[in-house]
Amino acid sequence: MINRQGVFKISIGFINGRFISIEEEVIPIDERGHQFGDGVYEVIRVYNSMPFMADEHLERLMRSAEAVQIEPNQSLDQLKEIINQGIEISGLTDAEVYIQVTRGISPRQHHFPQCPASLSMTIRPVRLVSEELRRNGASVTLMDDERWANCYIKSLNLLPNVLAKQAAYSAGHYEAVFIRDGLITEGSSSNVFVVKGQVVYTTPLSKKILSGITRQAVIGLCKELGIALEEKEMTTEFFMDSDEIFITSTTTELLPICSVDGQTIGDGKPGSITQRLYTAYQVLYKGTKNRQNRVIL
Ligand SMILES: Cc1ncc(COP(=O)(O)O)c(C=O)c1O
Repeated sequence: MINRQGVFKISIGFINGRFISIEEEVIPIDERGHQFGDGVYEVIRVYNSMPFMADEHLERLMRSAEAVQIEPNQSLDQLKEIINQGIEISGLTDAEVYIQVTRGISPRQHHFPQCPASLSMTIRPVRLVSEELRRNGASVTLMDDERWANCYIKSLNLLPNVLAKQAAYSAGHYEAVFIRDGLITEGSSSNVFVVKGQVVYTTPLSKKILSGITRQAVIGLCKELGIALEEKEMTTEFFMDSDEIFITSTTTELLPICSVDGQTIGDGKPGSITQRLYTAYQVLYKGTKNRQNRVIL
């Protein structure tokens, strides 16, 4: 499976110090990520063989780990090195890196064991959003936010997110958008933006949402492009009565939302500000240099 020449393109795994075939069955029965969801994770997009906004993702991974008192065995630089090595071995130029740190492997007990943290990773070809969805926009459904109080931590415990996403899918929607105390928080795996009268709005950072790296990039692009942006608590009425809606995430990038629970948003087509920001986002990531420091546009 070693692929130093970049000849093959393969999905690969990594666990506690070694690269493995993606099919290898490796999780020990007493792994706490497996038994308790006792860990944190990141998803990083690879463009042109380079991880995009890797520092931001890995800094968030460290913050999440600190928040749940897990001490990763690797420094941020070592993590970056492992990811880069993995990308090289996989031979993939466009990929998704999934990386998780757990409290480790120890006989099951609730309190913290004395054991080193585990690190595992997968690198796979990217699953692109269909061109049709990008062109026509997606639909979302609103749902009560039944998650815990610390959604700023990118924890492995995703059961409420999984159930919400499945309920949305089963009802023919792309995403579930959560409401807590009458206010929009975020999607089950995305942040939420609204455009109204040429102003872009997004939910302010708090413990109720994840500080999305794509959200951060989009806020930066608004500043660069001179588009007014406001971080604002949004009621359901405010959300439904918008000119444009889009969601953001590492894998979805920016995706226009043209319908909420069957109600058309704006004129039912992806809006002009959403499109402008998506184009700018593409320029941003297409400027990602590959390993030979060449910019591929
Ligand atoms: C709950 C939640 N909010 C927001 C996001 C978007 O974060 P990012 O842009 O860093 O991928 C994600 C991504 O998976 C998520 O799971």
